[in-house]
Amino acid sequence: MHRPTSFGSEKDMPIWISDRLILAFPADAEYIKADPRAIILEAGQAFGTGTHPTTQMCLREIEAQLVAGDHVLDVGTGSGILAIAAARLGAGKVVAIDVNPHACRVARANVGHNSLDRVVTVAAGTPDILGRAEGFHLVLANLDSAGGAKSWLPILSRLCRTGGKIILSGFQPPGEGAVVAALGGANLRRLDRRAQGSWITFLLEKQP
Ligand SMILES: C[S@@+](CC[C@H](N)C(=O)[O-])C[C@H]1O[C@@H](n2cnc3c(N)ncnc32)[C@H](O)[C@@H]1O
Repeated sequence: MHRPTSFGSEKDMPIWISDRLILAFPADAEYIKADPRAIILEAGQAFGTGTHPTTQMCLREIEAQLVAGDHVLDVGTGSGILAIAAARLGAGKVVAIDVNPHACRVARANVGHNSLDRVVTVAAGTPDILGRAEGFHLVLANLDSAGGAKSWLPILSRLCRTGGKIILSGFQPPGEGAVVAALGGANLRRLDRRAQGSWITFLLEKQP
């Protein structure tokens, strides 16, 4: 079995992300599917094969931040990859949403491939559909642009409990300043910044 040490393209699947996560296609060998670290994924036309820098940075940050039993919100779930990873890593409950109904269908199928239907719920829409939802311990938001990230920050912050974390990605340096400028107004503090290629990921903490 080919075992790359870093992320490759989709043709390199299975991909060993870390000692705790492996990405595999449904058609991959049965012994991979039986591995509790395996995420079975068929992205189709949805974003989220595991090969994009933003997805990779988010996966690493989830591994670093997630505490077993955490309630997690994944905004812009695409293929469901981050939601499924969070569930594999021990989240107690994951709510995954995407504005694109096709992505939601793909994500639901992938949740099913991984037998995680009891942990992960997928819904179509933007974060405002969650209304007065509980405060999540961890919010994941790998959105399409700095503008998207910035404009949703206040709602993402409201959906996160005090002391909870937000992993925000999907933007590049030209838009980074606008995202940084919006943090204080959304009651968020930046704890860390990752970069891979020209892409950036922030780890944010909800302030009291
Ligand atoms: C860059 S992809 C990320 C997919 C996956 N989470 C990953 O990390 O690979 C962004 C996804 O966010 C969705 N999206 C963009 N803006 C959104 C919003 N305001 N609310 C919900 N979904 C959104 C898009 O439809 C797309 O599927």
